[in-house]
Amino acid sequence: MIAHRMRIGVLISGSGTNLQAIIDASESGALEADVAVVISNHDSARGLVRAKERGIDGVYVDRGRYASIREYNAAIRDILRDHAVDVVAMAGYMRLLGKEVLDFWPKGVLNIHPALLPSFPGANGIRDAFEFGVKVTGVTVHYANEEFDQGPILMQEPVAIAEGDTAESLETKIHAVEHRIYPAALQLIAEGRVEIVGRKVKIASRA
Ligand code: GRF
Repeated sequence: MIAHRMRIGVLISGSGTNLQAIIDASESGALEADVAVVISNHDSARGLVRAKERGIDGVYVDRGRYASIREYNAAIRDILRDHAVDVVAMAGYMRLLGKEVLDFWPKGVLNIHPALLPSFPGANGIRDAFEFGVKVTGVTVHYANEEFDQGPILMQEPVAIAEGDTAESLETKIHAVEHRIYPAALQLIAEGRVEIVGRKVKIASRA
C-alpha cells in the first residue's frame, strides 16, 4: 500500500494519447495519483508536448548519448528515482526496459498492449489481430518483465471485430478502451488492491 498520493512515471515514444488519458484521469480525480515525470526516447514525441502543457516534467533521453543499453536504462532509472516515482507506466514506449529499471521497481512497472495477450504480441498487435481474422481482440494491461509482452496480466478487456471494421476503425475502438482501462488499472494500484502472486495478479475487492 502506498501511503502518500501515488506518483507515476510515464515512458513514451510517440503520440502519448494514453499518457493524456492518465493525466486527464489524474486531473479529474478518477485516478488518485499524479504523473511525476514523462520520459521519451524520441525528442519529437508529441507526448513531451502534452506533459509540458500540463506543467509536468518531460525528459528526452537520447540512447545515442550512452555507450551501452545498461547505461541508458540506468539513466532512465535515475530520472524516475529523482522524481520519487512509485509506479512506472510504459505507454507506447517501444523499447524493452532492462534490469536496471525492473530491479528498482520489482512490482511496479506496467505496460499496455493493444491485443489480448498472449495473442498478438509485438509492435503491431492491432493489425496482426485484424489480419489474422479473429472475431475478438482487445487490450491488456500487464506488468513488465525482461521479455516483450510476457509479464503477469493485471487487466484485460475484449473488443469485438465487427463485419464492417477496417484496421483503422478497429484501432479507434482499441484506443478508446486503452484510454479507459489504463487509468482504471493504475487506480487499482493506488487503492492498494493489487498483488502479484507468481504469474497471477490478484485484485482485492473494494474495502
Ligand atoms: C498504444 O496502442 C499502446 O497499446 C501501444 O502503443 C500505443 C501507444 O499509443 N503499446 P499512444 O502513444 O499512447 O497514443
